[in-house]
Amino acid sequence: MAAPLTSKPLVSDFSSSVSHIPSTYVRPISDRPKLSQAETSGDTIPLIDLRDLHGPNRAEIMRQIAHACSTHGFFQIKNHGVPETTVNKMLAVAREFFHQPESERMKHYSADSTKTTRVSTSFNVSTDKILNWRDYLRLHCFPIQDFINEWPENPVSFKEITAEYATSVRALVLRLLEAISESLGLERDHISNRLGTHAQHMAFNYYPPCPEPELTYGLPGHKDPTAITVLLQDQVSGLQVFKDDEWVAVYPIPNTFIVNIGDQMQVISNERYKSVLHRAVVNTEKERLSIPTFYFPSTDAVISPAQELIDGQTSPAVYKSFPFVEYWDKFWDRSLATASCLDAFRASTT
Ligand code: OGA
Ligand code: NI
Repeated sequence: MAAPLTSKPLVSDFSSSVSHIPSTYVRPISDRPKLSQAETSGDTIPLIDLRDLHGPNRAEIMRQIAHACSTHGFFQIKNHGVPETTVNKMLAVAREFFHQPESERMKHYSADSTKTTRVSTSFNVSTDKILNWRDYLRLHCFPIQDFINEWPENPVSFKEITAEYATSVRALVLRLLEAISESLGLERDHISNRLGTHAQHMAFNYYPPCPEPELTYGLPGHKDPTAITVLLQDQVSGLQVFKDDEWVAVYPIPNTFIVNIGDQMQVISNERYKSVLHRAVVNTEKERLSIPTFYFPSTDAVISPAQELIDGQTSPAVYKSFPFVEYWDKFWDRSLATASCLDAFRASTT
């Protein structure tokens, strides 16, 4: 564990008073972001218009989804059905949360990753060897009534706005799960049925300006533990996706979300769809806010490749069947690493 040199645990409470980052945040030379390289890379992730998802063009949209999920593991969506006002209120109140005094934010501080509402920093302060330039609020949001009482009381509109946003994004996720099922040639409700009673978490990632962004990460390269993730970001760039041995910067487009395939979907699709490495870099000028919705199986679900996608001869099962909770415990124990957490669940490992 890397102890912060400053007595303030959250980056936002010391970042503006330092001209060099504390050594606990400095990456070895072999593991630094090389910021200018990603900027010049030409490739980007596909943008899919969901307007016609339920119209006559559905087959074409299925084709786009299948292509994006199998080659990029990432796509952007527009006309996604989450109202612009809901999105803007969410971004505004999240920013307000992080602009509150330290005492208000620290009320929720915990290093215990099993807590269902908490503020923390880096990724997992109990296991991270090098710290990350990120503070976050993380909370569970489905079913809402099970968790809303523990969400932050301040700003006063936080609960109402977050509940509205989480409900609207969940409806979008359910449509995406149907579309992804269909794009794999499965029954529309296949994936939803495999996720048990479902779980939804949100993170509010706050990346303060950083005096030495070339030495550290907001979040180092990782794959998401989800079935799928729906990311909302403000207009400051920072997300990079790994494609063809290169880090590619994803620039924010207003009124879009970024969707990515997580590890559970990689398993269910028997690796037709890819959970892809991504990371967040920081900058000297501007704070950055991103709000991922993480959509998961419930802890009692058992995950395995869909039978329909297994063929003993040409496509044997790449993964064995495992209780989701086993994966989940491993994910939090080992800190964020580029090696996939899924390797332990491959069919060839006994
Ligand atoms: C994450 C993540 C990317 C970003 O929280 O898992 O990948 O741009 N965030 O903040
Ligand atoms: Ni991620």
